[in-house]
Amino acid sequence: MSEAHPVSLTIRNGVKMYPGTQALKGVDFDLHMGAVNVLVGENGAGKSTMMKIIAGVEALTSGTITLDGKEVVFADKADAVARGIGIVFQELNLFPNLTVAENIFMAREKTVRGFHIDREAQSQAARALMQRLEQDIDPETPLGNLRIGQQQIVEIAKALAQDARILILDEPTSALSASEVDVLFRIIEDLKRHGVGIVYISHRLEELIRIGDYITVLRDGTITGSRPMEGVDIPWIVRNMIGSASKDFPRTEAHPFGDEVFRAEKICLPRLGGGYTVDHVSLEVRAGEIVGLYGLMGAGRTEFLECVMAQHPQSTGHFFIEGKPLKTHSVAGRIDRGLALIPEDRKRDGLVQIMSIRENITLSSLYKLAKGFHLSIAAEAKAAAEFVKQLTIKIASQEHPVSSLSGGNQQKVVIGKALMTRPKILLMDEPSRGIDIGAKAEVFRTMRRLAAEGLGILFVTSDLEEVLALSDRILVMANGRITGTFPSGANPADVISATVPDRSSRIVQ
Ligand SMILES: Nc1ncnc2c1ncn2[C@@H]1O[C@H](COP(=O)(O)OP(=O)(O)OP(=O)(O)O)[C@@H](O)[C@H]1O
Ligand SMILES: [Mg+2]
Repeated sequence: MSEAHPVSLTIRNGVKMYPGTQALKGVDFDLHMGAVNVLVGENGAGKSTMMKIIAGVEALTSGTITLDGKEVVFADKADAVARGIGIVFQELNLFPNLTVAENIFMAREKTVRGFHIDREAQSQAARALMQRLEQDIDPETPLGNLRIGQQQIVEIAKALAQDARILILDEPTSALSASEVDVLFRIIEDLKRHGVGIVYISHRLEELIRIGDYITVLRDGTITGSRPMEGVDIPWIVRNMIGSASKDFPRTEAHPFGDEVFRAEKICLPRLGGGYTVDHVSLEVRAGEIVGLYGLMGAGRTEFLECVMAQHPQSTGHFFIEGKPLKTHSVAGRIDRGLALIPEDRKRDGLVQIMSIRENITLSSLYKLAKGFHLSIAAEAKAAAEFVKQLTIKIASQEHPVSSLSGGNQQKVVIGKALMTRPKILLMDEPSRGIDIGAKAEVFRTMRRLAAEGLGILFVTSDLEEVLALSDRILVMANGRITGTFPSGANPADVISATVPDRSSRIVQ
């Protein structure tokens, strides 16, 4: 088997120290060519760190890397790129105000006679990549106009443009729809046939089993399992990840709901060029109720939440909090009235990377202090510590910059930050995106506990299992509209079929 999949890159006894954290504690890793090497582990286990080392972004504190049998030390990322190693980072690294083509060729611009940028050639190459990825994206579109899943695809295109022979994908599918994942998997199969060695990181365990040829499990900086994928099942992965085989989602327990806390009436968001992105959406949430908004990527769910938070001045319709009309049109005003949003894109909307973990958690609540409410700074720090503990955020100190946290732990800080504002209605966009299954259970438990305390929760998810397990009521959205309403315990097939409404049901309403 290793003859079919020769090992080209190895790490031996790799150690990585960060201030206050030993991210890797002597790892041995083999990267097989012409194969998918999957990497899995809890948030903060060291996956991204190990990959940044292979990609020349971080250096080992001690230990060795060999490439084709020879020891190497990468000077920087460009050095690794020159040796054929490409990486798609977990957090998007793109420039929203540049075009798709400019982003793809960033820092490796195609030139005419060495110095003029050859825009035409770049545009053509970008168009070909978009075709290969089966995307209908114009390379001249500013990147910021694309939804986050499409941006993730541009990030993948950027790595493909390098023709790397080792390609690292760090959670490439966290914002992709099922059909986009299928396209990516076809491309991965194709790269494999051409002998490319792929490293693939994901928290979606089914996905790993489907795509992987070899699996490595990391736990707290140590490799706890490493083998060919054949015969591996989810309990094996989970056991190596967290030391026990269970991954129980807390089930919905019946508790009485209170009065209506939130109502949306006929919310519309016009689309450029006609039609609606959010098309006459009306819904309500009661105190203590968890409403799941399920649908495919691009159904208009995120945009609806953005309308609630006053992020689209051109939207129309009416909102009510506890029966009273919501008149304020500022985000701060809406937070003040008891709304809080946990956004989908934590890096862009959720966190200030250069500020400390504590400052980030308390950020949205600061205006309460300024107004002289009852909370003191000390109380805030204590409350922040409380959330860190509740959400099992893995940190060395609250005072470290939030950028020093692993991707999943940053997501938990975003959740803590929203909860600190003590909302009446919590809006959550893909709350479990990028977090490991242990933390997911923790976040879900927190959601259930908050609901039991009387909070109304409206959450968006593309995960069927999640929406079924968590929701007291499920709303399905497709093409900007609510296309189905289901009680908890609904039949999964019915929920899925509401995401592809037929013509007749679209005309009704
Ligand atoms: N620049 C940094 N400075 C300090 N600590 C860091 C830095 N980068 C990562 N760490 C720490 O190293 C550990 C491993 O982080 P890493 O990002 O590799 O985790 P991960 O396995 O990729 O997790 P996730 O699934 O959440 O993405 C974490 O404890 C993290 O806080
Ligand atoms: Mg990571």
